[in-house]
Amino acid sequence: MRVSKTALLLALVVGAPAWAQPAADVQAALDAAHAKYKDIKEGKNADYIPALAKVDSNIYGIALVTTDGKVYTAGDIKSEVSIQSISKVFTMAKVMEEMGAEAIVKRIGVDPTGMRFNSIVAVEFAQKALGGPEINPLVNPGAITATSMVKGSSRDAVWKSILGYYSDFAGRPLGVNQEVFKSESDTNQRNQAIGYLMFAYEFIKSNPLQATDIYTEQCSVNVNAKDLATMAATLANGGKNPVTGKQVMSTGNVPAVLAVMSIAGLYDDSGKWLYRTGLPAKSGVGGGLIAVSPGKFGIAVISPPLDDAGNSVRAQKAIADVSNALGGNPLASKPR
Ligand code: DON
Repeated sequence: MRVSKTALLLALVVGAPAWAQPAADVQAALDAAHAKYKDIKEGKNADYIPALAKVDSNIYGIALVTTDGKVYTAGDIKSEVSIQSISKVFTMAKVMEEMGAEAIVKRIGVDPTGMRFNSIVAVEFAQKALGGPEINPLVNPGAITATSMVKGSSRDAVWKSILGYYSDFAGRPLGVNQEVFKSESDTNQRNQAIGYLMFAYEFIKSNPLQATDIYTEQCSVNVNAKDLATMAATLANGGKNPVTGKQVMSTGNVPAVLAVMSIAGLYDDSGKWLYRTGLPAKSGVGGGLIAVSPGKFGIAVISPPLDDAGNSVRAQKAIADVSNALGGNPLASKPR
């Protein structure tokens, strides 16, 4: 790429752009990843929430939003799926904003459990063997606890506050997939038990059924690939939505959110994912996956079929390819 003298001078005066990839290269990386994985047949929709089994397995969209607000897309970015566990990232951020970053460490923990996302044994183990809250807000017991910590004078007030917060990250008003909400509400007895257990151990200090119900609703928020990429890009951009320009969370809290995503974002495969990409990320059983390249971009893929660990097959492959092609790994450095 040729860079003019004026551009160089401008970069010296106002600071170089954080990430100066030619637009054509970014688009080519997205197009290549879309084409390469479009026809793969691995994986299967989540079905423990009945409504998720019915979602079209062919939905496949990629979106990348840069920290200077440019949006790149490939494939289906219109179709919406439920955000599911990706929501946990943004509720954690909200609690940090309302109560301070240490509240998460004290009440929930920020360590990997090494167990399934809805493990009850993980809570018991932390309590009995480790002597306290040594889990994290991206597994269900920690996530339901985080939801219970969101401030509001009524269920409705808490819910409006959460939905408004997610919408600020996405840059548009988001809504709830009522079919998924009902389907999960009818079948979430295990999460209710987790809520009660966290209440029994006094991590949840209010009505645990209400916390579980709001958690279930937050998992049912509908998003498309561009929404998710904008949410991720807001984290990549120090908490400021690069498309709307709104400061959604304080810049100082972002690294801690990304740290928890790094250790627990892809369930039991979080280590493998970090090893291969270096990207803080979070998956959801609806088929979404977001990843953050700090200072550079947020990227998201939606594709419902999941692998055995519960992560979207196409999304993992596509994001790894795009990020590696564009130098997105934040752990990579060049020798001086
Ligand atoms: O709690 C559940 O089972 C779903 N609402 C979310 C599961 C999910 O995406 C897994 N996340 N870690």
